[in-house]
Amino acid sequence: MSGQDRTSNNKLLAWVDEIAAMCKPDSVFWCDGSDEEYDRLCQELVDAGTYIRLNPEKRPNSYLARSHPSDVARVEDRTFICSATAGEAGPTNNWKDPAEMKGILTDLFDGCMRGRTMYVIPFSMGPLGSPIAQIGVQITDSAYVATNMKIMTRMGQKVLDVLGDGDFIPCIHSIGAPLAEGQADVPWPCAPDISDKYICHFPETREIWSYGSGYGGNALLGKKCLALRIASTMARDEGWLAEHMLILGLENPDGEKTYVGAAFPSACGKTNLAMLIPPAGFEGWKAWTVGDDIAWIKPGPDGTLRAINPEYGFFGVAPGTSYDSNPSAMDTLHSNCIFTNVALTDDGDVWWEGMDGPPPAHAIDWKGNDWTPGMDHPAAHPNSRFTAPAGQCPCIDPAWEDPAGVPISAFLFGGRLSKTFPLVYESFDWNHGVFMAATMGSEATAAAIGQAAIRRDPFAMLPFIGYNMADYWGHWIKMGARTDIRHPKIFRVNWFRKDENGKFIWPGFGQNMRVLKWILDRVHGRVEAEESPFGQQPRHEDITWQGLEFTRDQFDSITEIAKSGALAEVEEIKAYFATFGDRLPKELDAERQKLADRVSGAPEVWKLAG
Ligand code: OXD
Ligand code: MN
Repeated sequence: MSGQDRTSNNKLLAWVDEIAAMCKPDSVFWCDGSDEEYDRLCQELVDAGTYIRLNPEKRPNSYLARSHPSDVARVEDRTFICSATAGEAGPTNNWKDPAEMKGILTDLFDGCMRGRTMYVIPFSMGPLGSPIAQIGVQITDSAYVATNMKIMTRMGQKVLDVLGDGDFIPCIHSIGAPLAEGQADVPWPCAPDISDKYICHFPETREIWSYGSGYGGNALLGKKCLALRIASTMARDEGWLAEHMLILGLENPDGEKTYVGAAFPSACGKTNLAMLIPPAGFEGWKAWTVGDDIAWIKPGPDGTLRAINPEYGFFGVAPGTSYDSNPSAMDTLHSNCIFTNVALTDDGDVWWEGMDGPPPAHAIDWKGNDWTPGMDHPAAHPNSRFTAPAGQCPCIDPAWEDPAGVPISAFLFGGRLSKTFPLVYESFDWNHGVFMAATMGSEATAAAIGQAAIRRDPFAMLPFIGYNMADYWGHWIKMGARTDIRHPKIFRVNWFRKDENGKFIWPGFGQNMRVLKWILDRVHGRVEAEESPFGQQPRHEDITWQGLEFTRDQFDSITEIAKSGALAEVEEIKAYFATFGDRLPKELDAERQKLADRVSGAPEVWKLAG
C-alpha cells in the first residue's frame, strides 16, 4: 500500500518522499502495526540471520538478536543537541551548530538506504488520543527497529487515523550500512566505527536524526530521543514535565491509592522499584506499575499533576533480573519478547548472569560463541536487554492506559551513595526539593579517581536533557511557583549507604516499601518528621518495622549525618553550580547557602532524637 492509501496528511507524505529521495532505498514500506506484519517482519529477520526464534514451548513468539560488538549501548559522546546556540544546549551536552550538523547528516544520509527497505513507522508516545500524548513518525531502514517499535510504542495505522492532518515529530534513522549491488547483508548491519554514529536532536524544529547504530536508545527514537530530549524542550515551552521517572501506584489495605514518580540514574534498580512486591508486614498492600523509565506529567483540570507512561513496553536490562530480584519482570517475559545480546541455552531459551539457579553447563554467548561457566567473560552482555510488552506485567496498573494520566503525590530522587546521605529525607519546600534533585548523583567508581567524589546526575536527566540543565532547573522552579498546581512533596532516598565494613545497611529492594509507606504517610499528613541539616527525616517510631529485623542502631547508622561529609557536600555543590555560570537559578544558590548554614550549626554527628 502506498502512503496515499494510508493518510491524507500532505506534510507527512511530502516528508516521506523527501527522505526517500535522499536515502534512496529500494522500496518504501508503511507499517500498519498489525500482528501479521510483525510476524512477517520477524520471519524475514530469522531468514536474514538477525533473529533466532526461541523454543516456542519455553518462550512462545520470542526472538533473540545479537548485535555487532561495536553497537551495544547508547553512545553519549556521539549524542548531540543542535540548538541555535551552545548556551542553549548548556555545559552538560554536546552541542553542534544546527546548520553545520544538517550538512554533515545530509551527506551521510545521501544514499544510505541503498539496497534496503525504508520503513515508515507512525507511533504514539502515550495512550492514543491522550491530551498528554505526542505522535511521532520514525523512518528507519532496520526491521529490527520496526519490530521493537511495535512493542515499545503504540504504532501503525491507528496512529495515522488519530493524526489526521495534524503535526508529528519527524524521526529519521538509518543504520548507515547501504548495500552495493549484489553485496550480501550481515545479521547486524551498522556503521561500526563509533565516530560514524550520530544521535542528533534539533530542539527548535523538533526533529531527530540518528545514524549508524541499531541499538536501543540510539535507534528506538521514541524513547530517550523523543520522550526525553525533545519532549523536555516541549515541556519547557508548554508548561509541563518530561522526566526520567518510573511511575508506581501504592494501594493500602483500605483501597487508598497513591502514585509516586521516582528518578534514579541508570543501574540503581529502577525497574525493580517500579515492580516492587510489598514485603512481609505489608499484608493487604498492593503495588502497581504504570511505567519503569519515563513519565510525562501535565497539570490536570483539578490542579493535580497527571502522569502518563509514554511507552508501551519495557526495554529493560536483563542481567541481574531474576525471580529473586524482580518476579514481576520475569513473569512479564514469558512470551512475545525480543531479547538482544543475552545468551542462548541448548534448549533454545535465554539466559543471563544473575538469573535464578545455577548457570547452564553450556550456552552460546552474546557474540555467538560456545560458553561454559568459569570462562573469563559473561555469557550475556552487561547491557543486554529484553523488549517486553508492558501490558504483560502482572502488576501493571489498571489505570496505566488512562488517557488522563494518574495523579502524582510525591517525587523521589536517589542515587548510589555509600555515606553521609540518609535513607530518606523530605524537602522543606518545593525549591529545596528542586535543589535536592539538581544535586543528586552517585559516587564515582574507583576507575574515575581524580573526579569529584559524587558524579552528579541531576534529576537522573544528565544524558537526556534536551537543553541547558540550569534552564531546566529554572523550569522546575517556575512550575513550583504556579498557583494552579497542587504540588507533590519531594523526597531524596538512598538505599545504598554502607557500614564501616563496606556492607549495605538497608536490607534490599522489597524493604523499600517501608520507606515508601512513610512517604505516603507524609503525603497524607499522618506523621510528623524531624528536621535535619539535609531535610525532614522519619522518626524511628513512624516506620513500619513489622516483618523485619532491623535494630535501632542500624537505623541510626543509616540516618545520622556526619558534619564533615555534609560540609564536603556543600563545597562540592558550590564548585558544581559554578560550572553553570550565571544561568544558575538564584533560588538554587540560595538553597545551597541555606544548607551551608544548617550544616554549620549542626553537631559533629547529627542524630535523630525520635
Ligand atoms: C535506560 C537508561 O536504558 O536510562 O533506560 O540508560
Ligand atoms: Mn532510563
